Amino acid sequence: MDRLYLEGPCTVSGEIDVQGAKNSVLPILAGALLTDQQIVLTNCPDIRDVRATFQILKYLGCSVDYDNGVAVICAAGMNRSEIPDALMREMRSSIMLLGAILGRMGTARLGFPGGCELGPRPIDLHISSLRRLGVTFLEEHGFLDCTAAKLHGADIHLALPSVGATENILLLACVTPGTTRIFNAAKEPEIEDLQNFLNAMGAKITGAGGSTITIEGVEKLHGAEYRIMPDRIVTVSYLAAAAISGGEILVRKACPPHVISVTSLLEESGCEIEMAGEDIRLRRRGPIEAVKQIRTMPYPGFPTDALAPIMAYLTLAQGTSIFYESIFQNRYKHVEELLRMGANIKVEGRVAIVEGVKKLTGASLVATDLRGGMALLIAGIAAEGETEITEVSLVERGYEHMVRNFSSLGVKIREG
Ligand code: EPZ
Repeated sequence: MDRLYLEGPCTVSGEIDVQGAKNSVLPILAGALLTDQQIVLTNCPDIRDVRATFQILKYLGCSVDYDNGVAVICAAGMNRSEIPDALMREMRSSIMLLGAILGRMGTARLGFPGGCELGPRPIDLHISSLRRLGVTFLEEHGFLDCTAAKLHGADIHLALPSVGATENILLLACVTPGTTRIFNAAKEPEIEDLQNFLNAMGAKITGAGGSTITIEGVEKLHGAEYRIMPDRIVTVSYLAAAAISGGEILVRKACPPHVISVTSLLEESGCEIEMAGEDIRLRRRGPIEAVKQIRTMPYPGFPTDALAPIMAYLTLAQGTSIFYESIFQNRYKHVEELLRMGANIKVEGRVAIVEGVKKLTGASLVATDLRGGMALLIAGIAAEGETEITEVSLVERGYEHMVRNFSSLGVKIREG
């Protein structure tokens, strides 16, 4: 699907189950390489990035079956340690496979991951960290040849709490002799999910979710069955869609503690929110109040991936909201498209100043990146008239069954 049409304004109402987390299942799929026994993943989302990773696993010699949210992977037949350049270019997060391929095969070869829509995506922390474990790197002709000859545990201090680098270290250190400690580790919930999955395979990891993680390397890992945690960014995307429409939504199978930084902002803007177990109910009756300052931060701060969906919502606020993006260089590519709908947003470097407007009008738009594309869909729900969004495949990287799911919530949406 590469084109979506929405007819607005419409009111979101109803309930929806949250899909499994993209940013959890991707490193966990890499972890499946670390054993020759079967891995079964439930609540595995049906999204493009997962299918792209399946392709890479198959290329490496694994068997992969996927049906109705259940993925069954077996890496017994793994016979390659190179990630094809085309697949690497298609999905930058394939860098997460590096640690696991090295842990299983002892060597790895991959093209340098390109930048992405969010700006340059360096991997210097990945390389310096794995080097601490004994990996040697040869960079030439845009390729990285990596060798894990004599691996050993090490203390690794991350200059910044990189999610991907933390995950790559976990995936290699768990089968590296000795003790490895990560200081200034990323604290995102997806790291905890990866720890719990690897421990279910027999790894010995403690501390994920905090800033220091300790890994006791083990000889071998065995098969496991594991349920992927809910996607916290998809959760807040649904909440923003209901909030902008002045409707009511019950998001089920979520993990409320993971989204507190965003739900508290939604309450500040005038939404009523109730949380019970895995359910989050949101309704918005009154006007949308602007939120003075929103600064994206590593977890548990306001997540950078929630910036675009929440910005779309606040384009209709009474007053001015100011965003500060502290993680990526270019998180504002979707702003141009929101301006075409009548939004009033000024971007100065990492700061975006959103002056609320009375209404948005439908327009012909282009998705610029995964979360930016979702922001356009959210704006299209409230905009008057028809909104067309192209390059929707970018959004399908992280959101499953968008037409089915948003239609079930009362959104007038169809694919082109
Ligand atoms: C993960 O990206 C997520 N992707 C991103 O989600 C998310 O926005 C990001 O973490 C931050 O939470 C996946 O998990 C697949 P980082 P990652 O390494 O691992 C710099 C989405 O929309 N950096 O924490 O790439 C980097 O440039 C995606 O689902 C280095 O300088 O994020 C960035 O400025 C978008 N050197 C900052 O750290 C390195 O070696 C955070 O990057 C690595 C990173």
